Amino acid sequence: MNHDNASYVTPSKERVGSSDKQQLAEALSRAHHIEPPVTVAPAPASAGILKRMYRAQHNLLSIWREKDYSVYTTHMNLANQKYVVCNSPDTVRRVFLEQHDNYDRKSPQMRRALIPLLKDGLFVSDGDLWSQRRRQCAPSLSNALLPNFCSVMTASANETAERWAEQPQDEPLDMLTEMAHLTARIIGRTIFGDDTTDDEAEQVVAGFTEYQRHSEHLDMADTLGLPFLRLLGNPLRRNRIRYSAEQVHEVIDRIIDRRINTSDSNQHSMIDSFMTALEGSEGCPMGREAVRNEAIVMFMAGHETTANALAWCWYLLDYDQQAMVCLQAELDEVLKGRTPRYEDVEKLHYTMAVFEEAMRLYPPVPLLTRQARGEDQVRNREVRPGTVLIVCPWLMHRHRKLWEAPDHFVPERFLPKVPRPDKFTYFPFSVGHRVCLGKRFGLYEGVLCLATLAQRFTPQLVPSHKVEIECRLTLRPKGGLPMTLQSRKPYKRF
Ligand code: HEM
Repeated sequence: MNHDNASYVTPSKERVGSSDKQQLAEALSRAHHIEPPVTVAPAPASAGILKRMYRAQHNLLSIWREKDYSVYTTHMNLANQKYVVCNSPDTVRRVFLEQHDNYDRKSPQMRRALIPLLKDGLFVSDGDLWSQRRRQCAPSLSNALLPNFCSVMTASANETAERWAEQPQDEPLDMLTEMAHLTARIIGRTIFGDDTTDDEAEQVVAGFTEYQRHSEHLDMADTLGLPFLRLLGNPLRRNRIRYSAEQVHEVIDRIIDRRINTSDSNQHSMIDSFMTALEGSEGCPMGREAVRNEAIVMFMAGHETTANALAWCWYLLDYDQQAMVCLQAELDEVLKGRTPRYEDVEKLHYTMAVFEEAMRLYPPVPLLTRQARGEDQVRNREVRPGTVLIVCPWLMHRHRKLWEAPDHFVPERFLPKVPRPDKFTYFPFSVGHRVCLGKRFGLYEGVLCLATLAQRFTPQLVPSHKVEIECRLTLRPKGGLPMTLQSRKPYKRF
């Protein structure tokens, strides 16, 4: 990328005056002439399922062939396990909304990967327990608490900006790690309150990282539906998984004990809200352990997802300098150099569009799975009890028949006056009954962090670094994202 004077260029006059639809048309026609940002090479059309499974060991998304990006359903049989891939708005609607009771269970792989850490937490539970927990946890993420949480978001992003200002301009930072620290600080403070130390947040993140390193994303016994293969599992690895889960539990138990003992009525943390549910008269009051498990769910679900989405935004804004110019022009116009606030988010249209488009191209949770309880028919595919249904935002967001220039970065698709994509075609937060509980939190956090940091810096990718995609439970830039920071001149009122 050529960065000459990138931060000081203003968007063209025509662009400032043109309508959202016009801007989209221009951006799409420009997209057709440039290389798309990094993607995953499809499997060869002739590759059999075993070869594709081998590829999937390294990157789950390299299992798909080019034709999988334009079909509406497909299926796979792996030994004893049947899979149906839902790749059209009507099939996604059926599984996530209309037939929810048949498809409320996560896949055995997902449950096995996460239960040692989350126990009976909302993210992996199902049936009555899931609905009770969902009702009990929802108030902690209600709109009423969001303005408070937004102050935590901007204060934390400002701390990052202050540290960056001390950073020599030619010394690269790993933007993925930077974003992971930032979102860990934000979610730590919102779940546990202001008295959570950075050290404690770091310990939880370290525990998660260690946990993910040892827990396999493709457990062969479950993938092939052959439980006896579990006997061949490595007991040492199982111990390590248990140990890293225990470490996370220990830190969080300590924080909860401290919160219980210092009942400060001015705190509005999520855990305070869970504690109220603990005393509540609902059928299933939240016990001490449930509070801990749900706190872990919130931390896990709300930390890496936003961090990855933000890291992809920085990559894309460097890849497409014109987008960075538009975003910074919007920040200058709306904020005039001050720290963004909760009320600004709905005025930062282009910033939100960049965040949404980044999640289209690189959905932080690229693969959603459910296990059928009973028989069904999804389009022409038969579903039997135990069949695993795969809904893949990665595939849907790049569907050749549903998007124009599907692999290209075109934030203008999400400008307010452009018709929204169907909610069963674009769903980075999932959709239907089990839609992400932190959807608004995540959107606000993304916009406020981008706004606070892009107002002061233009991060630039180290030219020799080749960006690649890593897909495990979440989607992130493989090996991090080394970037240098170009400071912007402070905004001046003319
Ligand atoms: C950009 C940020 C985020 C993205 C892209 C995202 C995405 C998702 C997705 C796709 C799911 C559904 C997973 C599945 O069905 O297998 C989910 C569930 C969930 N998310 Fe998020 N999430 C984000 C941020 C957050 C935040 C900040 C929180 C909490 C503060 C959160 C809390 C949850 C919870 C509790 C669930 C489980 C809901 C249930 O099963 O009923 N998420 N998220």
